Amino acid sequence: MSVTIDLIGRTALVTGASSGLGRHFAGVLARAGARVVLAARRTDALAETRTIIEATGGSAVVVAMDVTAPASVATAVGEAWGALGRIDILVNNAGVTATRSFLDMGEEEWDRVVDTNLTGCARVARAVARRMRDDGKGGAIVNIASILGLRVAGQLSSYASAKGGLVHLTKAMALELARYDIRVNALCPGYVATELNADFFAGEAGKALVKRIPQRRLGRLADLDGPLLLLASDAGAYMTGAVLAVDGGHLVSSL
Ligand SMILES: NC(=O)c1ccc[n+]([C@@H]2O[C@H](COP(=O)([O-])OP(=O)(O)OC[C@H]3O[C@@H](n4cnc5c(N)ncnc54)[C@H](OP(=O)(O)O)[C@@H]3O)[C@@H](O)[C@H]2O)c1
Repeated sequence: MSVTIDLIGRTALVTGASSGLGRHFAGVLARAGARVVLAARRTDALAETRTIIEATGGSAVVVAMDVTAPASVATAVGEAWGALGRIDILVNNAGVTATRSFLDMGEEEWDRVVDTNLTGCARVARAVARRMRDDGKGGAIVNIASILGLRVAGQLSSYASAKGGLVHLTKAMALELARYDIRVNALCPGYVATELNADFFAGEAGKALVKRIPQRRLGRLADLDGPLLLLASDAGAYMTGAVLAVDGGHLVSSL
């Protein structure tokens, strides 16, 4: 038996597509053949993502979306659905971090992280899944959580709580949406090398962290391609409610 991953004729909405993982995921889906809608707050940065995708022969549309604002999400999902005809795949990737001790964390910072990483994902998924249910053609939702949704680390209580909530939300959504042929799975990346964390991982603390990863290296963006395509495509047709860690074994590091 052979498995081919082909998203030709499919459509995808990627939140947080203006940088980092989201920009990468949008490119991966486009290269697999999907037409993509790129969503985030910074439309200038989204336009750069679109240029990158179009340069490799892909097709992308930009919509402004703030996942913490219900009206913005409703408008953006309506625009995305209209532009694509429908949405087959949602990649719920928009997220923010806050590094702060639990005791020093203020209400505003806590709310920003939870509103974006948990409530925002639920809000976008609900808007998309209602339309998927109504047109009766199903779909695939991939929630980008983190290994911090499965284990904790210091100074990251709001982030870990939101990602833990997102892992649980994934299972709850999978249970309720399977009857509409909507699959919902979570991808939990470990530490992935990006421009933003390059300085940290070049320093002593970063090098010490990498030594605790069983595979002794950071993840590369390309390490996420296969797992993303598995969850987003028919290759994962019998997967829903799954939580897939892609972390070089970090979660099973020795205590
Ligand atoms: N990098 C890693 O090692 C790693 C590991 C595990 C999980 N993750 C997860 O992967 C996702 C992407 O992270 P990243 O490392 O690529 O970070 P990043 O480069 O900072 O990207 C975050 C993205 O989220 C968007 N975003 C933030 N707040 C938003 C809002 N209110 N509305 C709409 N979009 C919003 C940002 O776009 P705008 O600012 O333009 O709105 C940006 O495109 C996050 O969910 C993160 O938790 C990352």
